[in-house]
Amino acid sequence: MKHVIDSTDLTVEEIDGILKLAQDIIDDKEAYSEACKGKKLATLFFEPSTRTRLSFESAMMELGGNVLGFSSADSTSATKGESVGDTTRVVSCYADIIAMRHPKEGAPMVAAEKSLIPVINAGDGGHQHPTQTLADLQTIRSLHGDLNNFTIGLCGDLKFGRTVHSLINALVRYEGIKFIFISPEELKIPDYVTDMLREKGIPFQEVIRLEDVMPKLDLLYMTRVQKERFFNEEDYVRLKDFYVLTPEKMELAKPDMLVLHPLPRINEISVEIDDDPRAAYFKQAQFAVYVRMALILTLLGLA
Ligand code: NCD
Repeated sequence: MKHVIDSTDLTVEEIDGILKLAQDIIDDKEAYSEACKGKKLATLFFEPSTRTRLSFESAMMELGGNVLGFSSADSTSATKGESVGDTTRVVSCYADIIAMRHPKEGAPMVAAEKSLIPVINAGDGGHQHPTQTLADLQTIRSLHGDLNNFTIGLCGDLKFGRTVHSLINALVRYEGIKFIFISPEELKIPDYVTDMLREKGIPFQEVIRLEDVMPKLDLLYMTRVQKERFFNEEDYVRLKDFYVLTPEKMELAKPDMLVLHPLPRINEISVEIDDDPRAAYFKQAQFAVYVRMALILTLLGLA
């Protein structure tokens, strides 16, 4: 049985198949409206979420399936001390597929070991978020046109941002990609990522000032400073507004440079950018539903 815990759990061919299926769904939604009839998705969310949980639920409903689950650990037996493994083992008797979000890195992997049904990691701590990566890849492919040969700037909280870690793991398997990491010293990309890039001979650059690299970028992936992963409020307050993308900074960018963001946005992208045709983040949130539909169909063997 296939689980998706890390973006590398899907091969490039499998990702390609999921993105193509997502496009087929976009082109003819009606054709898929009963594809998951009688199937149940369990959303086990031990950590807050708006988009991810609702887009998973919306995806299953669009496929004619049903949804059950919880949106906070407070209402579950986790408060009594039940392990993630036991919760998952039990839920796998009630549903056909699980989407799990958890504040602890590795929790969905533990769940997958005990599960009788496919488990999808919907975000584990500061580690991975593979379905956001599918939405990011679909956005790049649809709006930029190709998943090869571009320079991408990843900006903000590169230390704790799980969407960044997942996206890099997926992109290193394509050709001609250059990474520019833009962050304050305290929120630098982890060494294990730069070690992996060096090992693979993939070019990257680390900078602090966004303005310095803006003209080089084909894509800019902005992220929020991950408040919930900080040990003290003071550090968060000091770093939270380190980057604010403004119309003035956008003037330095290529005329077709796309701006992506996994959302939620706090202050890091000025609302004035929302009307810029290069702002791709709300479209990205829409693609998230279609790629999750395609992933559910694929993992249930219904594609
Ligand atoms: C991201 C996450 O949860 O990691 N949100 C999302 O799923 N779209 C990004 C974030 O919370 O900053």
